[in-house]
Amino acid sequence: MQLSVIGTGYVGLVTGAVFADLGNEVICVDKDEAKIAALREGIMPIYEPGLEEMVRHNVGEGRLSFTTDTEEAVRQSEVVFIAVGTPSLPDGQPDLSQVEDVCRHIARALNAPKVIVNKSTVPVGTGDIVRRWIEQYAPPDHPDFEVVSNPEFLREGSAIYDTLHPDRIVIGAANHNAAMKLIELYAPLERPMIITDVNSAELIKYASNCFLAMKISYINAIARICDLSGADVTLVAKGMGYDKRIGDQFLQAGLGWGGSCFPKDVSAMIATAESLGYDFELLKAVQRINEEQPLYFLSRMRDALGGLSGKRIAVLGLSFKPNTDDLREAKSLRIIAELLAEGAEVRAYDPIAMPKARAIFPQITYCENAYDAATGCDAVAVVTEWNEFRQLNLERLRQAMRQPFLFDGRNIYDPNKVKQAGLHYFGIGRSANAVPFVRSSSQ
Ligand SMILES: NC(=O)c1ccc[n+]([C@@H]2O[C@H](COP(=O)([O-])OP(=O)(O)OC[C@H]3O[C@@H](n4cnc5c(N)ncnc54)[C@H](O)[C@@H]3O)[C@@H](O)[C@H]2O)c1
Repeated sequence: MQLSVIGTGYVGLVTGAVFADLGNEVICVDKDEAKIAALREGIMPIYEPGLEEMVRHNVGEGRLSFTTDTEEAVRQSEVVFIAVGTPSLPDGQPDLSQVEDVCRHIARALNAPKVIVNKSTVPVGTGDIVRRWIEQYAPPDHPDFEVVSNPEFLREGSAIYDTLHPDRIVIGAANHNAAMKLIELYAPLERPMIITDVNSAELIKYASNCFLAMKISYINAIARICDLSGADVTLVAKGMGYDKRIGDQFLQAGLGWGGSCFPKDVSAMIATAESLGYDFELLKAVQRINEEQPLYFLSRMRDALGGLSGKRIAVLGLSFKPNTDDLREAKSLRIIAELLAEGAEVRAYDPIAMPKARAIFPQITYCENAYDAATGCDAVAVVTEWNEFRQLNLERLRQAMRQPFLFDGRNIYDPNKVKQAGLHYFGIGRSANAVPFVRSSSQ
């Protein structure tokens, strides 16, 4: 099938590469000329395991190409995917201006019947708006087109794997013919497909992401109870997770959720609910717990160290989660900003995200590895659970440090092993008799 994917970011580039790998002819479009020029040179704009090899192979086979010319790409395609960003506006609503811009180009290039597939995460009801935008900008005698919703569930860090092995493929279409095009496209993956109306498909995406965010905030709230009562949240989560109705995923207490999706999708769901006349109090609490989590972590560090001013802190991990260099809404940003504001000195290490972090925090020291980061430090704070931090030589870490404090923001260590190495251990929800954390209005 001849396809184009408009927006060559995490979703667009991975989607384009995978569809090309399945034998389709795919044109990936982006308005960012530098990005397209780099891709034509084989340089990836993002780090994603397996992506570079897949792109190179399919470009070589002549099935994948890159352009900034949206209209030419649309003219050559029977199916057009929209995969541009939908960032949050200040009121929490998603900004649909990139989607509208793409609709304007699609409308001008409608030379034959086409299926327009929205892969960007958009609020329920956007399918109708997309249809109206295209009709508004297209010439009066334009050929037919269908608008389909096909929300994306890939996770950064395992995006290629997720796109090849999705738990389910959601197709929201107003009629059978439009749905059939997508069914045909996804058939080689042999994964479950659910066919719905457009509104339901759009809502499935938000309902799923908000549920996962809720699960994480829930276990983080339980972690606070654990710290206050002397229970261990990792054991509590294990005991819960064996219950098939609950499941063990997304029950790791830590610094909370970040990244490009959960924060904006939770805000968008709250705002959409409000505009429809429903006060989504549950999600507001989910959001508040998440915002408090890094502050709670810092408060424990402040208490243990007797203040943060003048302290030297090693921050291990900067990306919002392992296996990506994405810093959007990463907990490291909040934690480093607070540490600097309180007069601490920060030494950071991340296997991949340091070049991006340098642009945000040029004033901190970027290190060679975890031991280098810990050198002369009063505390080490694990912020992202990269695998390489799990098996650190803790004695070597302690020897490099000025004071032996380890703050494990992702609960990746066995507290006993840390103590045996001569370090004071502070996890999330893993210590008895913690000092209650009170959120002050200035935080
Ligand atoms: N990143 C994820 O893990 C993920 C997962 C599921 C869903 N989503 C959703 O998918 C959508 C895309 O997310 P992303 O992370 O890939 O975004 P991104 O910011 O990485 O990429 C978006 C790309 O679109 C390009 N673009 C913007 N306007 C354009 C236009 N008019 N014409 C051509 N290109 C244009 C940008 O230059 C950018 O390269 C969002 O709605 C997001 O919520 C993202």
